[in-house]
Amino acid sequence: METKKTIFSGMQPTGAITLGNYLGALKNWTSLQDEYNCLYCIVDMHAITVRQNPAELRKNARNLLIQYIAAGLDPAQNIIYYQSHVSGHAELAWILNCFTYMGELNRMTQFKDKSSKHSENINAGLYTYPALMAADILLYNTDLVPIGNDQKQHLELTRDIAERFNTIYGETFTIPEGYIGKVGARIMDLQEPTKKMSKSSEDKNATILLTDKPEEILKKFKRAVTDNVATIKYDPENQPGISNLISIYSAITGKSYVEIENEFSGSGYGNFKIKVAESVIEILRPIQQKYDELQKDKSYIDHIIKDNAQKANYQSQKILRKVQKKIGFPSIIR
Ligand code: AMP
Ligand code: TRP
Repeated sequence: METKKTIFSGMQPTGAITLGNYLGALKNWTSLQDEYNCLYCIVDMHAITVRQNPAELRKNARNLLIQYIAAGLDPAQNIIYYQSHVSGHAELAWILNCFTYMGELNRMTQFKDKSSKHSENINAGLYTYPALMAADILLYNTDLVPIGNDQKQHLELTRDIAERFNTIYGETFTIPEGYIGKVGARIMDLQEPTKKMSKSSEDKNATILLTDKPEEILKKFKRAVTDNVATIKYDPENQPGISNLISIYSAITGKSYVEIENEFSGSGYGNFKIKVAESVIEILRPIQQKYDELQKDKSYIDHIIKDNAQKANYQSQKILRKVQKKIGFPSIIR
């Protein structure tokens, strides 16, 4: 039997997901599900490195799981689960913490960013976050990790930790590769198009959420910041707003930038914005319908949560036991 390669990725349940998350991550995930053995995790343990409201965290985690499925991930084919339901993540993270140097953690740009944003709460978890992320990935002998550009540094560190461990104890971990999709790798903020579109943006007009109603989507695109060059051309340096709209339209329609420039040559920005908005509305419509249906089906979602946590637990035990044995933990007597 040919064994499929393993994919692991995750998102933090820290708010409704954006068009950036969808085009940069989720949409790529759905195209990989037939070819690979995939695990898609809702990383609630990572989320608490920043203070969370408990009720909101629980709601966001469930909504994110439902959005994964609504966006096309098949829960029978992929393992979709909560990180906190599989204790192996925390167990392996502790071990990997002991193989990660402070010098390495000091260089992580996400830590620098987040600690400057949350200067009142620079906790040890925020600092060792990358060791937990390494544990997520290495726990399943992952081959491929689909991520956005911003997570490349964490993946590099994961590879270094895995190689370090393998050098000391012999072949244990698979060394994972990153997988960064070609299109939609970086969707920008609609109001400040030099910044990436982010869940945490304060300005509601800056981000499109997966759950936005058609009229909200249209309104946000109409208000999107452009320029006064008055041509529809992909030129991120001089026309970041228009270039962002072109890349969104390209990610959705599959058309190249040149094809789009030709399609809209001589057209005004107003017309182009409406066309982009319509393409987004159409791609999100079936996802939103499915999302609303799934929200009503409590027992089906509960079943998925239980079933997939069991599958992930089962898979994680094999590698965890191997690691524990290699480092010299006494075996459990049954
Ligand atoms: P986060 O929202 O930071 O938890 O990111 C979840 C996933 O979505 C990661 O793989 C990110 O790289 C990806 N992602 C987040 N924001 C964007 C964006 N604006 N454009 C493209 N991909 C993104
Ligand atoms: N750190 C990732 C982010 O903020 C989320 C994440 C946690 C992740 N563990 C992971 C992504 C493992 C890929 C693989 O987006």
